[in-house]
Amino acid sequence: MKKTNLKKLLAQMTLEEKVDQLLQLASMFYTKNKTEITGPINHFGLDDESLTRVGSLLGTMHASDVIAIQKKHLEEDRNKIPMLFMRDVIHGFRTIYPVPLGLSCSFDPDLAAECSRMAAKEASAGGIHLTFTPMVDYARDARWGRVMEGCGEDPLLASRMGAAQVKAFQGDDLSNHDNIAACVKHFAAYGGAEAGRDYNTVEISERVLRQYYLPAYKACIDAGVTMLMPSFNDINGVPSTANKWLMNKVLRREWGYKGLVISDYNAVGELVVHGVAKDMREAAKLAFECGVDIEMMSPAYHKHLASLIKDGELDEKQLDRSVMKVLRLKRDLGLFEDPYHGASQEKEDAICLSSVHREIARRAAEESAVLLKNDGTLPLSLETKKIALIGPFADNNAIKGSWACSGKDEETCTVREGIAELLTDAEITVARGCGDTWDDNDRSGFDEAVAAAKAADAVVLCLGEPQDYSGEGNCRTDIGLPSLQVELARAVIAANANTVVVLFNGRPLTLTRLDEIAPAILEMWYPGTEAGRAVADLIFGKANPCGKLAMSFPKSVGQCPIYYNYYRTGRPKQRADGVRERFISNYIDCGNQPLYFFGQGLSYTEFAYDEIVLDKSEMCADETLKVSIKITNTGKLAGKETVQFYLCDLVSSAVSPVQELIGFEKIYLKPGESKIVTLDITEPMLRFWNAENKHVSEAGEFTVSVGYADHMKSTKKFTLK
Ligand code: NOJ
Repeated sequence: MKKTNLKKLLAQMTLEEKVDQLLQLASMFYTKNKTEITGPINHFGLDDESLTRVGSLLGTMHASDVIAIQKKHLEEDRNKIPMLFMRDVIHGFRTIYPVPLGLSCSFDPDLAAECSRMAAKEASAGGIHLTFTPMVDYARDARWGRVMEGCGEDPLLASRMGAAQVKAFQGDDLSNHDNIAACVKHFAAYGGAEAGRDYNTVEISERVLRQYYLPAYKACIDAGVTMLMPSFNDINGVPSTANKWLMNKVLRREWGYKGLVISDYNAVGELVVHGVAKDMREAAKLAFECGVDIEMMSPAYHKHLASLIKDGELDEKQLDRSVMKVLRLKRDLGLFEDPYHGASQEKEDAICLSSVHREIARRAAEESAVLLKNDGTLPLSLETKKIALIGPFADNNAIKGSWACSGKDEETCTVREGIAELLTDAEITVARGCGDTWDDNDRSGFDEAVAAAKAADAVVLCLGEPQDYSGEGNCRTDIGLPSLQVELARAVIAANANTVVVLFNGRPLTLTRLDEIAPAILEMWYPGTEAGRAVADLIFGKANPCGKLAMSFPKSVGQCPIYYNYYRTGRPKQRADGVRERFISNYIDCGNQPLYFFGQGLSYTEFAYDEIVLDKSEMCADETLKVSIKITNTGKLAGKETVQFYLCDLVSSAVSPVQELIGFEKIYLKPGESKIVTLDITEPMLRFWNAENKHVSEAGEFTVSVGYADHMKSTKKFTLK
């Protein structure tokens, strides 16, 4: 449909029809009988007529549902405007790949793009037009359950992963049936929830907000994201959905964002609960003034927008602009010509879980795994004859992750299945040992587990937290492994030292007790559909682990929030000679360092780093400084290494982080092979947010280092003139 026709269409719409283009309902309004729509959602007060003109739906399951709803809708809607169907396609539609925090550990935006393209194809075949992805909420506190959905504690990594996903989901042309639109969320600083408690207030300075939290949203906008979702939390006392400073000044005036904005689920209605709007009418007004175009699952716009306009409190022109944005998205998707965007149940069934897609998911699972510890026990020999598979996740298919859209546990390959496929001649004994929850105290499976361990050549001990321990609303104050699992580990490792631990979890855990006893620990996160096959490949050395942590693992929950890029204090460190000093910034019972650092991750091979070479020691603002470093695979196996470049601004007018990631590259090296990795440093990379919240660089000395955290391999100084 042409622009002129869209204008004509808008002109023929009544005020009420325009308002309801901005209403997004859950699909149950269309899939359930009227009598089943009970409870709180009754307050939507939707009559039959308004149901025929709703602009978009949330959360339909399959192409057949979408097609049926769209068909009926087009028969009933006077204006024949197709509906938009949106869904949370977070880590796959039906073929599930690792949860986003896991995928970020791959440090591989191209891989994230490949996964997103696959998800877009499947989702589009399933009738979905837009996904509420990527979630790039910067987070430092593993108590917050939603760290699982984000990209971790580094702004650059999150920016690259987020932007890659946006471009891959959307492609060049939304009318292409392989593409769907993307929505970046949750703007802003949702991951800063105080004490790691979901939906909690966020107490943050503008400087910290701009330096750490905002860059990844901005990167997604620069990548051309179609839609943005404000966060539930308040910033400076004002919930994002009604925050004019955030939505109008930063987002629109500073960044020039012109795309769609959708509220989060019931977030407009929650302005009343927050206590910043006295009623739904005021909530509608506040959100609309912040440019929230679509209201998800609360009825404030539906009930009050028309009267606010008639009473002269809001301008109809603004309504027209919002509706036009919705219509334009429908046009760009080609929905006026093909309201199903090429979806069909046959197509969905044919492409979902295809061998090509499973291969992508398996590779992504392997590249996202992080080898946290290895005393040489891993990889296990492919010749192993007797294997004991122990623990609550040994033969458990609930390891795909909790935002798994149409993915199913029963389609997920368990560790037992994966190993049995790979080692067809081995004798595998499975013993669950104990349950997976924190309140489980049933030790009745311990004896069987210990006996199996004793009789085996090698033990694969599969531990972790249940899928619903992380994700939305799943925050914890104890982020350790459920204690019975640690007890089980102790008993099993005592029975057989040739034990490797494989972990399934959605957040960094405190693994201090496990680390003390386990010979090897492989962090798998929730790897998705191909979980078990990926585990088998990795522990038997058919794949070489290469993931690096995207988030620090604290030693104790008391260290949260903990992150590698912290501001320098005036009293930073313990003395080099180990003598305890009292008046320093330090925990006397556990120190400041995490158990496992951001950027850390082992391989089955070894990489040697030469010294950094700089092409000059001084640079002017208009010059580029070239950093290069040679890396050699000195081990016996081929492997991938993520080379990480960190910057430190030695003196600045406001405190800078001890280090910040300014570049990374993942390379593949055969045994004995070397590569030179380079990074071009330009002046914008040296900027920081000063005390006046200006993004500036200051002349002076900097260091660039390669390695990670406390394990830098080489550091060089240079000067910005
Ligand atoms: C609430 C969540 O906060 C958001 O991430 C999600 O996209 C919506 N629900 C829709 O499911």
